[in-house]
Amino acid sequence: MHILVTGGAGYIGSHAVRLFLERGHEVWVYDNLVYGHRAAVPSERLIVGDLSETHRLDQILVEKRIDAVVHFAAYTYVGESVTNPAKYWHNNLVNTLSLMECLRRHGVARFVFSSTAATFGIPEKMPITEDTPQHPINPYGASKLAVEQALADYTHAYKWGFAALRYFNASGAYAGGTIGEDHTPETHLIPLIIQAAQGKRPHIEIFGTDYSTPDGTCIRDYIHVDDLAEAHLLALEKLQPGQQMHYNLGIGRGYSVREVISAVEAVTGKKVPVKEGPRRAGDPPVLVASFEKIQRALGWTPRYTDITAIIETAWNWHRTHPKGYRSK
Ligand code: UFG
Repeated sequence: MHILVTGGAGYIGSHAVRLFLERGHEVWVYDNLVYGHRAAVPSERLIVGDLSETHRLDQILVEKRIDAVVHFAAYTYVGESVTNPAKYWHNNLVNTLSLMECLRRHGVARFVFSSTAATFGIPEKMPITEDTPQHPINPYGASKLAVEQALADYTHAYKWGFAALRYFNASGAYAGGTIGEDHTPETHLIPLIIQAAQGKRPHIEIFGTDYSTPDGTCIRDYIHVDDLAEAHLLALEKLQPGQQMHYNLGIGRGYSVREVISAVEAVTGKKVPVKEGPRRAGDPPVLVASFEKIQRALGWTPRYTDITAIIETAWNWHRTHPKGYRSK
């Protein structure tokens, strides 16, 4: 397949690109490098550009004979989406709609979309299945849900095939050690704890210790980024015209913030200084996915089923890349 990967130089995108190339696909990465890293993808596969440059996208679709698009490019900071919703609605929705129009002009009808657990908001029941009502509580989740809805309409009317993959907490790094997680600013729990273990931060602050969970801290479903990448490939390979796929992607098991801290201490052999702080606005107490639907339909199953194994890969990346992609 000739695949265009938007946002392919980002954290999850670069892992998908590596896997697609390994499996023999013809891959082109389109990334504006605002958050992505040049070093995260092979240079001969990278086209630096923004989603708003539709004429360039038109040209690429034709020249590279693109069959399918995997669309990662998006802004993903939940807190920022609340204070600057315009940025999120514009980039995540308007730019995606204009990408979809380019695809329509050129008859590209296979689309895999990075969606998120944030489309569910604060669900009443766990685990979260695909039937769980989607009521996002921030502009980030709302912008992703709006794209899901637009894609459903396109699929119906124009016989596209599309998959919306709703990631829970993407984590870990490629076990080969060459790519990993490097965000500026970093807001995600596992890299922050690792940085505290390395002495790069004074401590990890736990956002809330009074939740109604066994140890009082929030529970999340951490899924390895290479397992996510595999799900994209399976979806791409199985999509048929007129077909919609909606799948939740997690490992079906949750870990509390305190459990994740203990796991990082066990993996790194270092004591992590902890500070207990107030809740972070908008954090649901528990988010755990059911992955039964994608398992049944596509045969996907997570290879990393334990937080320790996931953290080992993250630690391998952070240990060998103390400055992320600027380490060399
Ligand atoms: N947390 C802390 N201290 C920190 C950072 C995080 O206690 O310094 C806690 C959070 O409160 C949360 C858990 O660790 O309970 C995980 O937090 P992350 O910020 O790593 O991830 P989130 O669950 O908030 O967000 C992730 C993705 C989002 C996506 C969301 C869907 O990063 O893009 O899942 O629910 F929208």
